[in-house]
Amino acid sequence: MHRNSRWPGFYKLSIEERRQVAADSLGIGMSELSGALEGGLHSEKADKIIENVVGTFSLPFALALNVKVNGTDYIAPMVVEEPSVVAAASNAAKMIREGGGFQAEADPPVMIAQVQLDAVPDSATACEAVRRHQGELCALGDEQVPGLVRRGGGMRGLEARDLGEGMVVVHLFVDCRDAMGANLVNTVAEGVSPRIQELCGGEVGLRILSNLCDQRKVRVRARVPAAAIAGKGFEGAEVIDAVARASRFAERDPYRATTHNKGLMNGLDSVVIATGNDWRAVESGAHAYAARSGQYAPLCTWKKDGDALEGFLEMPLSLGTVGGPSRVHDGARMGLRIVSVESATELAMVAASVGMASNLAALRALATEGIQRGHMALHARSVAIAAGAEGDEVEKVASRIHAAGDINVATAQKVLVELRPAPPATAPPPAE
Ligand code: MEV
Repeated sequence: MHRNSRWPGFYKLSIEERRQVAADSLGIGMSELSGALEGGLHSEKADKIIENVVGTFSLPFALALNVKVNGTDYIAPMVVEEPSVVAAASNAAKMIREGGGFQAEADPPVMIAQVQLDAVPDSATACEAVRRHQGELCALGDEQVPGLVRRGGGMRGLEARDLGEGMVVVHLFVDCRDAMGANLVNTVAEGVSPRIQELCGGEVGLRILSNLCDQRKVRVRARVPAAAIAGKGFEGAEVIDAVARASRFAERDPYRATTHNKGLMNGLDSVVIATGNDWRAVESGAHAYAARSGQYAPLCTWKKDGDALEGFLEMPLSLGTVGGPSRVHDGARMGLRIVSVESATELAMVAASVGMASNLAALRALATEGIQRGHMALHARSVAIAAGAEGDEVEKVASRIHAAGDINVATAQKVLVELRPAPPATAPPPAE
């Protein structure tokens, strides 16, 4: 299906109208779409997923627009509680689109299973034995996951590392195809470990995947023309210089790099959550990778190139489109239908592109007018809702408390009382 992710004026519509636009554009039934997006999970189902369930917990589900990756348009589902993130990502994706969109590539979906061995009598000999038996160990690994092998995945090799103190770790590389892969990889590690122990001696320790999945990286490039990034009273060239300087700041300072990456993860995690993926796995891998040189560094950097701004992102990213919560969570399943990808690697490229857009949006705002003005306007809306404003009242209360520079629940409640018609006076009850 030919998709178009430019839906001008989408933000101005009501929720019902937005659902209709999404249903029509994506070829999804309106009632199916609406049904899946009211929480997506009943308590009875939740009770089958984890323990001690007492209920479920909802977050806003939104759509990021304008996302074009490798020439294809995507509507990116985003689950996030922070105001501005979705609008900012859509806005930055539009700027990047004007430079041709995101150019992304992803490695094959190869995960690492770690098998730890302790008290190995001769580590160098043990590592050598593992290498010599690579063919046999890979065949044994494949036997543990016949379904995966049938789907085109399975063992892709191994390595043995001497960690000192008699400790050896064997990495088994497993192509997980469209699965995130945690269960598959753990099955392989447990199934192969007895033979590894026979080859190495010592005692088997942990057998578990590594979330530093640096065999499964995604790379995204983008080029933003000066005209596309200009605005808010700033020339394009000025914004390009300012964003490049902000990026350089993150390269030189881990304190800044941490916040820089947080802005990137705002967008990326939102897509990860909306598609039912494990965001803790993604986060742990991302930050370990960011620190790989010994100094925590930005995952995405921006440089001036001629009269344009060029961005480059590289990070490990293990996402799945099959298995996991998408089996039971209607919202996650709908998230996957909306983004409409054919593989886990395609999903990784889209999610990373949204992360890059979030990063650019944050840097552009910070390096020009600052983010507080936009943030406070949105914060005022949340405060108005917390004060009890409903429907049209939300915008009215929000704009008054924002204009007054007094954004708190007590002031919002006072404004609400002024806005609402006074209840009719009731006569006192007759005396007995
Ligand atoms: C806020 O959630 C994210 C930012 O702090 C990111 C950044 O500073 O780059 C705005």
